[in-house]
Amino acid sequence: MNADAMKKQAAEAALGYVEGGVIGVGTGSTVNHFIDALATIRGRIEGAVSSSEASTARLKQHGIPVLDLNGVGELSLYVDGADESNDRLQLIKGGGGALTREKIVAAASRQFVCIADESKLVEVLGRFPLPVEVIPMARSYVARELVQLGGTPVWRDGFVTDNGNLILDVQHLEITDPRQLEQQINMIAGVVTVGLFAHRPADVLILGTPHGVRTLGR
Ligand code: A5P
Repeated sequence: MNADAMKKQAAEAALGYVEGGVIGVGTGSTVNHFIDALATIRGRIEGAVSSSEASTARLKQHGIPVLDLNGVGELSLYVDGADESNDRLQLIKGGGGALTREKIVAAASRQFVCIADESKLVEVLGRFPLPVEVIPMARSYVARELVQLGGTPVWRDGFVTDNGNLILDVQHLEITDPRQLEQQINMIAGVVTVGLFAHRPADVLILGTPHGVRTLGR
């Protein structure tokens, strides 16, 4: 079974967490499978709050209403993918560059169900370069500060986020204390969002495997 089939399996299993109301929807290839699956039960939900322009377009193609987070209050459920997860369900996200809106929607949701193929589960976060969204004029300054923290930031040249900002992908980090690093990077002036989800980890991680889905968390 290839990685995409495992992603699809995890995405379809997440449908079991949908109880109606308004659903938070993340971004990426795994979430695209979730959106396609959600379309089959769209009559059961009021709509979705989306974390990116790409997911908004896909939701609308399926006739799923896309709502403004400001008008809906707390969401019962957020479903999103990840680039890496440890066994505490702390995540690296932002490979697709949508980390800021993803972090907002995750924070505004009661339950965060993360969907991924089994290769995303790691012992220590950091093999996947850590995305950091920065205000354009702060790019070089933030990069120097990230070097002080032991990383090697690489500018994702040519990429602009949905919020008009830039991304630095920080390589060579071994993230043994994700909560502390998230806090340290958040303190750097010019950082909009760091793609570490440690203070708000996932509540449930559904992994697609060649032998069926494996679920961690509650
Ligand atoms: C988007 O910015 C990311 O946080 C995605 O959730 C993450 O990159 C997972 O993507 P895939 O589902 O495409 O692997």
